Amino acid sequence: METLKVDLGSRSYPIFIGTDSLAQLGELLKLYKVGERFVVITNAAVDRHYGEKILASLEAARLRADKIVVADGERHKNLKTYERILSEMLRLHCDRQTAVIALGGGVIGDLAGFVAATFMRGIELVQAPTTLLAQVDASIGGKTGVNHPLGKNMIGAFHQPRLVWIDTATLTTLPPREIVCGLAEIAKHALIRDRRYFEFLETRLPDLLRLDHEALIKAIHRSCEIKAEIVAQDERESAQRALLNFGHTIGHALEAAGGFRRLRHGEAVLLGMLAEAYLSCEADLLAGDAFTRIENFLKRIPQKRRLEGIPISLVEQCMAFDKKVKHGQLRLVLLRDIGEAMVTSDWPREKLPRAIEYALS
Ligand SMILES: NC(=O)c1ccc[n+]([C@@H]2O[C@H](COP(=O)([O-])OP(=O)(O)OC[C@H]3O[C@@H](n4cnc5c(N)ncnc54)[C@H](O)[C@@H]3O)[C@@H](O)[C@H]2O)c1
Ligand SMILES: [Zn+2]
Repeated sequence: METLKVDLGSRSYPIFIGTDSLAQLGELLKLYKVGERFVVITNAAVDRHYGEKILASLEAARLRADKIVVADGERHKNLKTYERILSEMLRLHCDRQTAVIALGGGVIGDLAGFVAATFMRGIELVQAPTTLLAQVDASIGGKTGVNHPLGKNMIGAFHQPRLVWIDTATLTTLPPREIVCGLAEIAKHALIRDRRYFEFLETRLPDLLRLDHEALIKAIHRSCEIKAEIVAQDERESAQRALLNFGHTIGHALEAAGGFRRLRHGEAVLLGMLAEAYLSCEADLLAGDAFTRIENFLKRIPQKRRLEGIPISLVEQCMAFDKKVKHGQLRLVLLRDIGEAMVTSDWPREKLPRAIEYALS
């Protein structure tokens, strides 16, 4: 079991990373004196694999636990599901001493996190992420929330967990497409922050793809460390946290242009990183050989281009709507080198269509 810490003063919390460790969660919660009783919030797909395991672990530690199972999917990350969970918790007579355990991917983490942030003005939260994306990204940093019909993540709150519990064994039941999504965020961490980590990923990509637990633990550890460092420096998002948007400005536009159905978020980010690395090169920030190395690596992550028939102009339009448009200027995170990123509004706009075309080719 590996441990690291998200350093936020009195709200600091540990991240535990292990394999086949779900059964030990109950004992640890007792040790850390998290809550007096628990509500596990999960979805039907995750519940089928891990619901019983987590309840058994809490029961073995003599901790009282209930489980609330919601429907699977981003479209259920909304106020209706949120309200249903709150009603269920009130019916179960949950109180301020109850802690929420979010067992699932980022959708569950965001939804259950928002429940914990707001139920009786805030109760304790434990993140138990079960997708690679949630393990390296969504479960850390304290952003919680739900979608509104007019926009994704439009309703939410900052609410840091008491601890994060990562069991890489849960990844064995994850669809391969979801592994790719997690790898995209992992590659992003290396590209914006750590050249040596990038070299590790270049070497160990085949191991990560076949879910070698030793390689996974190393990558998850380093990615959590990078996200934790950035969050600790800049909890409420500005300069540093913005670097985590590498690949995301063009990525979001691709997601939107595909009607949020054709591409998963991580898949879009993967393509977005290719396009933004291309622009970094065109802006004379990134050297040609570094760009080629990035390109070779990103293209080794197996992915189908799923945007056939979508005009580049639509992607450009979607980009103009991006919330990062500030004072009419679209800011991008570009790379200066492998492991070094910067935010800039000074980039060659006329090269954008070619960059998108390149990423999709
Ligand atoms: N709060 C943040 O900082 C943050 C950061 C990134 C993303 N997010 C949010 O996270 C969400 C995306 O998260 P995601 O990519 O994890 O998607 P997800 O939660 O929808 O999970 C993907 C799919 O995998 C299934 N699944 C989860 N764990 C499984 C397992 N171990 N075995 C089998 N199936 C499993 C889920 O049921 C779902 O069908 C988005 O809503 C996004 O807004 C939040
Ligand atoms: Zn992302």
